[in-house]
Amino acid sequence: MGVLTIQGFINWLELWKMMRRRDHHDGDVDKAKFWDQRAQEFNRHTLEHRGRTEEQIERMGLLPTDSVLDIGAGTGRLALPIARRVSKVTAIDQSGGMLGCLKDNMAREGIDNIECIQKPWEDVEIGVDIEPHDVVIASHSLGMYDIGGAVSKMDQAAKRQVYILTFAGGWMQDGEEELWHRIRGRGKRGHRHSDYMLLYNILHDNLEIYADVSITKRKWHQSYADLDEAVLKWKEMHDLSPDKEEILREHLEKVLRPDQQGRLTYSRLSKEAMISWSKGTNGGVAAVSGSPFGKLED
Ligand SMILES: C[S@@+](CC[C@H](N)C(=O)[O-])C[C@H]1O[C@@H](n2cnc3c(N)ncnc32)[C@H](O)[C@@H]1O
Repeated sequence: MGVLTIQGFINWLELWKMMRRRDHHDGDVDKAKFWDQRAQEFNRHTLEHRGRTEEQIERMGLLPTDSVLDIGAGTGRLALPIARRVSKVTAIDQSGGMLGCLKDNMAREGIDNIECIQKPWEDVEIGVDIEPHDVVIASHSLGMYDIGGAVSKMDQAAKRQVYILTFAGGWMQDGEEELWHRIRGRGKRGHRHSDYMLLYNILHDNLEIYADVSITKRKWHQSYADLDEAVLKWKEMHDLSPDKEEILREHLEKVLRPDQQGRLTYSRLSKEAMISWSKGTNGGVAAVSGSPFGKLED
């Protein structure tokens, strides 16, 4: 019998599902509705911070002739500036609210080479809904339970390159984890999410994709006219009931800092991983395989 190797020792796919169940209560959350409710605020924020988006796109080496598939495109943070550089973009998202903002942004910015498809990625069929694209992108949009199937389909949809952007390490600071403990209860959504390492292991062990990873620092900041506006926006964004307002207000009062314009700013420093691979250099994707050690218990 061969020596037990690291590969196959941990069932990363089951671990992913377990994390999703813990973080997102998959099954009892309407994921499209979740993003519909956040669309306006998300759009406002991303339109204000275009510098980071430009840096991400610079690193993708896109060609003017490229077709780009943006999975979980949201309000078009990446799709809009990418559309100006390439021949066409297909933006897929499950949320009509997010895609509605994307379409408004397209009209305002005079962009007409983005096709929007409102569907969960899980339901998209290559050859029926879309054809393969030169480049496939999924940025902070891995809301899939069956991540093995989802990423395998991303690989199949790409002719040249796949880019996945996700967090490296935790991103909550200044007592935010404690805030979510107090609001949602311990062990519930809002706690530390899984980061790029879990996906990287899935790529390696289950899909035989040996991807590149590059980590960059990411600063997120949002400003508000005053504390009341901040409380209102956070309540909307996180769908909080009125009885949680006091806890939220107490937290925001502690962490918001006045900027030079007299507005109140919330800042977060985090790290982002860009996981990427070229087609043809990694030997192709194997059928998604699980662990010989079976299913993990919750
Ligand atoms: C955090 S936003 C990111 C939007 C955009 N990619 C960006 O980087 O700004 C996540 C988006 O991914 C979408 N999304 C998550 N899982 C999805 C899935 N399985 N199928 C389609 N869209 C999905 C959500 O609806 C949401 O619009």
